Amino acid sequence: MELKALVLLLSALCLSDLTSTQDSCGKRLLVAAPGAFRIVGGREAPEGAWPWQVSIQIQSRHHCGGTILSNLWVLTATHCCHKYLRIIKSHFRVVAGLNVLSGPGDQTQIRSVREVKMHKDYNGITSDNDVTLLLLSSPLNFTDHVQPVCTPHNLAHEFILNFSHCFISGWGSPSYGGRLMNRLQEAEVELIDRTKCNLITWYNGIITENMICAGLESGAADSCQGDSGGPLQCYSEDEDRFYVVGVTSFGHECGLPHKPGVYARTSRFAGWLKASQGASVSAARRLNTRLISALLSAALTLL
Ligand code: ARG
Repeated sequence: MELKALVLLLSALCLSDLTSTQDSCGKRLLVAAPGAFRIVGGREAPEGAWPWQVSIQIQSRHHCGGTILSNLWVLTATHCCHKYLRIIKSHFRVVAGLNVLSGPGDQTQIRSVREVKMHKDYNGITSDNDVTLLLLSSPLNFTDHVQPVCTPHNLAHEFILNFSHCFISGWGSPSYGGRLMNRLQEAEVELIDRTKCNLITWYNGIITENMICAGLESGAADSCQGDSGGPLQCYSEDEDRFYVVGVTSFGHECGLPHKPGVYARTSRFAGWLKASQGASVSAARRLNTRLISALLSAALTLL
């Protein structure tokens, strides 16, 4: 009798996992919507301000940032992983719900990495297509401190969303060549038009369509070493949600005028994101369906 109950419970758990698709994203539960307030030039992020921000660590040391897209998928930069592929499975870990690097609290959730999906057209010289998806070993539990962000469906959607405020966040250094920050930092930045960013005195044509520049013309706010892979996130007032608009990729030093941060433009990767996550999710679903049938037939035999 007890065994029967257990088997039925397990089937129910599998079923609920199968049906829990993501319908809420980009909401922060502990911090209000960005108001008129205004890394390099940053400040400490309030607790729970960026619940989709993760720290990607190698042997327990912060290596890069990342962004939670769903309970199983984290988005990061390819340049954070491609040289480290050999050690990736065993030594990489993803830390969510983290604010202070040296003192992970009760809210922190740690996962290892089951699969690394680097964009196949990543170019190490130009940094084009600097996006990678990490499949976690087991699902994250969403809490006040751990939430998924939204992703734009395509370029047109990115325009329609008409973002009012954009922010960068990370534990990266506060100046070029500096050391990591212990507390998560944030800074407000402006999206910079590609034509402007490609001017001779700016990046002189190296910004591809798959990239988006963000910062301040003066250089007063910028991402820096250690922020890579982390989010450039923008707030849609209409929807009252945050979208990941970019993945921190590169920049000429940090915080220099006319040399803003360059981010992989997520709206250009919407199709790739969907296809890459879909393939493994459907594999997981097939597995789950088989598990449910096995459990249910076991339960029926026991009746
Ligand atoms: N590539 C750097 C990293 O690995 C990110 C640099 C961003 N630079 C900038 N000036 N915004 O962490």
